[in-house]
Amino acid sequence: GDVAVLVPAAGAGVRLGPGRPKALRLLAGEPLLVHAVRGLAAAASVHTIVVAAPVAEVSTVRDLLAPIAPVIVVPGGAERQSSVAAALAAVPAGPDIVLVHDAARALTPATLVESVAAAVRAGHDAVIPVLPVVDTIKEVDAGGTVRGTVDRAALRAVQTPQGFRRAVLAAAHAAAADALTDDAGLVEKQGVPVFCVPGSDHALKITRPFDLAVAEQLLARTLD
Ligand code: CTP
Ligand code: MG
Repeated sequence: GDVAVLVPAAGAGVRLGPGRPKALRLLAGEPLLVHAVRGLAAAASVHTIVVAAPVAEVSTVRDLLAPIAPVIVVPGGAERQSSVAAALAAVPAGPDIVLVHDAARALTPATLVESVAAAVRAGHDAVIPVLPVVDTIKEVDAGGTVRGTVDRAALRAVQTPQGFRRAVLAAAHAAAADALTDDAGLVEKQGVPVFCVPGSDHALKITRPFDLAVAEQLLARTLD
């Protein structure tokens, strides 16, 4: 494999409600992070996995993942972006392609990991998986009055894994000024074109309790 995957997993999971950090919350009896790492390890291109864990849970996470796959675990940061930067700094020499994948997208299929990696390998320096936006989107003012309707045909919802030529991601993080919610955003600021590949419904981000319930159902039976 020529691919390293960085897994930001250091978030608290505030929107999921009270409990342990989100990566350690259970889905069908196993932590979200276990599901996520298992999916990544199932992708043949993946050579190295680096997890950014909650600072207080680094050794817990190491013990948890050791039976699943060989994984490097580092303490995460206060923002997602600093967690990704910490993981990036721990990637050993070798892999030329780096993917960044949210632990919260615990059920992401290995096929999506491979399609993102393949697009980088084919020459795209930055690749994101996207889905069309299904709802009508409106711009609304602070008082709750509609300002206008956005043309959704040009909009895409963005998932992870996001894939990069290693040097491109490293340069983008080195130059980063303010914290963004995704890595492609940093690369865009460097003027690097970002290429889209089709995403997957199964790569949904588990954010609220409803999403956890959906993920439980996805695991319990095969939904399309
Ligand atoms: N993340 C991280 N370090 C942080 C914040 C987030 O590694 N300081 C990770 C999360 O663990 C998650 C991914 O980034 O895998 C996407 O973030 P999100 O879904 O927002 O997770 P949380 O920040 O944990 O959730 P919330 O915003 O509800 O607290
Ligand atoms: Mg968050």
